[in-house]
Amino acid sequence: MQTKYLLDESRMPKFWYNIQADLPAPAPAVLHPGTLQPVGPDDLAPLFPMELIGQEVSTEREIEIPQPVRDVYRAWRPAPLYRAHRLERALGTPAKIFYKYEGVSPAGSHKPNTAVAQAFYNQKAGVKRLVTETGAGQWGTALSYAGALFGLQVEIFQVRVSYDQKPYRRAVMETYGARCVASPSRETAFGRSVLEKTPDHPGSLGIAISEAVELAVQREDTKYALGSVLNHVLLHQTIIGLEAMEQLQMADEWPDVVVGCTGGGSNFAGIAFPFIGHGLRGGAKPRIVAVEPAACPSLTRGKYAYDFGDTGRMTPLTKMHTLGSQFTPPGFHAGGLRYHGMAPLVSHCRQLGLLEAVAYNQVECFEAGVLFARNEGIVPAPEANHAVKGAIVEALRCKREGRAETILFNLCGHGHFDMSAYQKYFAGELTDEHYDEKELAMALAGLPSVPA
Ligand SMILES: Cc1ncc(COP(=O)(O)O)c(C=O)c1O
Repeated sequence: MQTKYLLDESRMPKFWYNIQADLPAPAPAVLHPGTLQPVGPDDLAPLFPMELIGQEVSTEREIEIPQPVRDVYRAWRPAPLYRAHRLERALGTPAKIFYKYEGVSPAGSHKPNTAVAQAFYNQKAGVKRLVTETGAGQWGTALSYAGALFGLQVEIFQVRVSYDQKPYRRAVMETYGARCVASPSRETAFGRSVLEKTPDHPGSLGIAISEAVELAVQREDTKYALGSVLNHVLLHQTIIGLEAMEQLQMADEWPDVVVGCTGGGSNFAGIAFPFIGHGLRGGAKPRIVAVEPAACPSLTRGKYAYDFGDTGRMTPLTKMHTLGSQFTPPGFHAGGLRYHGMAPLVSHCRQLGLLEAVAYNQVECFEAGVLFARNEGIVPAPEANHAVKGAIVEALRCKREGRAETILFNLCGHGHFDMSAYQKYFAGELTDEHYDEKELAMALAGLPSVPA
């Protein structure tokens, strides 16, 4: 009864998979907020190095992973694929549940897959300093680690509520040599403007992005790095699904359902896009299920419209499922999922009918995570609990229907820095957070108007 499927380092993928090569229609263009014309490379150059801008618009199917990036990946990749035998038994399901475990990276999540690549391309372009946002702290940790390896100074705006919930995340970022401040902060004009109106603002990823962008454009030697949403970030994460494909073949299996949690969409795209692409090229088409938090439901309740990626309206406009850039999600415990928008490529796939989306509340997700931990041993990050919940719902459906389907999900990170949330759950103090319907309506009414 094989439990883990391990690939040798020599079989680690040498290329990322670019779904833009296989989509039946291209995703809508990114627009300049002033002119409403498609942005060109020069518009993005103050923020990103040219090689990443090139990846943003590339339609090449396979993009080579540079050797120095592969050399770093080897520290934890290929990541293991597990069969969840014990969870299957606990659920009494005929389904076979497999999970790809990304928590084996030094930072504890999937985020280094892109952090290392971004640090590499920035260093190659002569950049000295990277500025970014972080929600849960996983992305900030990953970029701090990558910055240390490539000799870049890293500055991080961490969403206030997460900064307070998990102080040790900041300590890890500092261990890697980064500087981390709570957002909204007094270090930027935008942060100060938010604090003037709401001194105890809990922060949001949208606000932290505005602060990071504001700082990044001020200095020639500084660029901005984003931990999710953008095409190049999703591209870098596809190594997850590519490895999983090889590992499932070792198990003589292919998924009927692929599940991932969605904040900005990167770990989900990482596991799902290679399977969607395989289906688009004539292969089997598994069901693809995105799981999001009910308190920040961009894919299930958002509007598919052009919007800003940040609250301060400094970014270009992208067409995506959005709750409105002025929407502040409640302070629930999956900080990495508290984002108002969704990756344009994930949104586009949803519009094309290539994936499904569901939303669950935090208490039921923690319940799923605890069941998982008590059977499989790994304590998932609160974000990953959404994927666990999604996989369990599918496994129980298989039980009801008497079907032995194969379910694959992405266990995108461990929850070792999230134990205060688990403590609250065990104390019965964790409640479902609900967003304010009026605030959501206002945020949606305030979407920028872009002629069709
Ligand atoms: C463990 C974990 N999972 C998921 C996410 C959500 O991001 P994405 O949807 O880009 O994977 C985060 C973001 O911080 C995270 O830390």
